[in-house]
Amino acid sequence: MALVKRKGITISRQLLDDQKLHPEATGALTALLSDLVVAGKIISAEVNMAGLADILGQSGRTNIQGENVQKLDVFANQTIKRRMEQCGHICVMASEEEDDPIPSLPGYEGNYTIAFDPLDGSTNIDVNVSVGTIFSIHRRASSGGPGTVADLLQKGSSQVAAGYIIYGSSTMIVYTTGSGVHGFTLDPSVGEFFLSHPHMRIPDASLYYSVNEAYAPYWFDDTRDFVNYLKSDANGRKPYSARYIGSLVSDFHRNLVKGGIFLYPRDKKSSDKTEGKLRLLYEAAPLAMVVEQAGGRAVTDDGRRILDIEPTGLHQRVPLIIGSQHDVDLAELFLRGGRP
Ligand code: AHG
Ligand code: MN
Ligand code: MN
Repeated sequence: MALVKRKGITISRQLLDDQKLHPEATGALTALLSDLVVAGKIISAEVNMAGLADILGQSGRTNIQGENVQKLDVFANQTIKRRMEQCGHICVMASEEEDDPIPSLPGYEGNYTIAFDPLDGSTNIDVNVSVGTIFSIHRRASSGGPGTVADLLQKGSSQVAAGYIIYGSSTMIVYTTGSGVHGFTLDPSVGEFFLSHPHMRIPDASLYYSVNEAYAPYWFDDTRDFVNYLKSDANGRKPYSARYIGSLVSDFHRNLVKGGIFLYPRDKKSSDKTEGKLRLLYEAAPLAMVVEQAGGRAVTDDGRRILDIEPTGLHQRVPLIIGSQHDVDLAELFLRGGRP
């Protein structure tokens, strides 16, 4: 049934309609995602007050990534953990902010796992630039009881749901359960998410490229040549415009809506960026599912499809090239040493 943009369709209604597409569904995934939506509303309220509450700035901790943890990172992480550990549908979790797998409360284990980045783009919180939450959901691989790390280390192609919440000029949830991508906007006056972007498709032609050009001196030659090609007007078309927010969710969302390509490639200088900066489990893989469901592509800079990568660690990093199909195809040509 064609979804039409109408204030009447809530995310709860859409989740139930998605469920109907899977006759074997028990309603567990619907319930899980509904609890995640509640976490999103709680985080959104806090993010939108960040300047007023004592929630800006650093928490004084550093995480496994060696990054300074912001107070809002901690708040978002706690909020999602609390909702998920007692929803009764999760057997184990992985969070960017936690070194090890997070169990559900004893007796509340279920048949799914969730990996999440509780607050993506944290360095932007104190400067009032949009940030987000990214989530990835798999069916458990083990048979029952507390989940294991093996339940979390599954290929992106076996995700049953993925998406993100973006806390920007409005708060939106964009998600897929494998039958297309839908966007919902929070109406804070009633505390409900309403369908605002039915059947999202990423435009094939692209307007924007997103990459942190401060690292250009460390890029491999093919990466450098590709970005220079996008910026050049010598190819008989308008050069791309540069847009780089520094929040993956925000850069990704803009490209999903307008068309574009985001790159966080390997670099050859810094030892901690031999695989880029972004994490497979809770950044690259969920956004790869969303972009492919919207008609785009997501690969590494050595041509591997993100959704085909067998994870080996909860916080494993991968180079990420993601966005409009035409642009990712072109990037791959350059990265194979070819030129148009
Ligand atoms: P997080 O805040 O969850 O650590 O993620 C930040 C990531 C991502 O959101 C963004 O694209 C990237 O870091 C920006 O990195 P640089 O500052 O190196 O460009
Ligand atoms: Mn992140
Ligand atoms: Mn984060």
